[in-house]
Amino acid sequence: MAQERTSWQIKDEAILTELVTMMEISSAECALLGQLKGQAEVLAPEMTKAFYGRLFQHTNTAEYLEGISMDRLNSMLATWFIELFNGVYDEDYARRRINIGRIHVRIGLPLRYPLAMMDVIMVFGEQVAHQSDQPDVAMTAFRKALALDVAIFNQAYEDNQMKHLADLVGGERLARLLLSGAG
Ligand code: HEM
Repeated sequence: MAQERTSWQIKDEAILTELVTMMEISSAECALLGQLKGQAEVLAPEMTKAFYGRLFQHTNTAEYLEGISMDRLNSMLATWFIELFNGVYDEDYARRRINIGRIHVRIGLPLRYPLAMMDVIMVFGEQVAHQSDQPDVAMTAFRKALALDVAIFNQAYEDNQMKHLADLVGGERLARLLLSGAG
């Protein structure tokens, strides 16, 4: 039988605070990433082209883009990418990012697709980080910011699944025990 965990008690906003704290992004790392925003702006159009290019290559992902304004999507993804180099990674930042995750939950998009697409973000983000005058430190900092986004995207999905399962089985504790294979 799975043991109860204190992490199970952490909810909503407190999860965002926990994640931001856990990344241990130092103020020097924040400053370094913030200095690269201009470079991220320059690379953003190439990144969005590669990103949606890949999604259009696969029928199962291209289906989600039918009838959607690509100008709007390109611009929103570019903003998301540039904001990775915002230099401020606080609860407000995490809240904005989790709302984007929730939008993907609502369009019925399986989580594996956004997670797989982090590959494209990683390639372009690393190119931005390379341009820093301290490329190794910038790379480490960028990886932290990206890991934070992966965790936040996942959280948006997990929150939704947990809510539905908890409603179904009569409580979150029971849902967690079930998911850990108990009973
Ligand atoms: C790294 C992964 C991803 C990121 C960072 C990302 C980013 C974004 C952003 C910033 C928005 C705008 C949200 C808003 O309205 O404020 C958006 C919307 C959207 N994304 Fe993604 N996305 C990702 C993966 C995907 C994938 C894999 C698909 C489809 C296969 C997809 C399809 C869409 C669609 C259809 C919308 C528009 C939703 C609507 O307005 O109804 N996204 N995305």
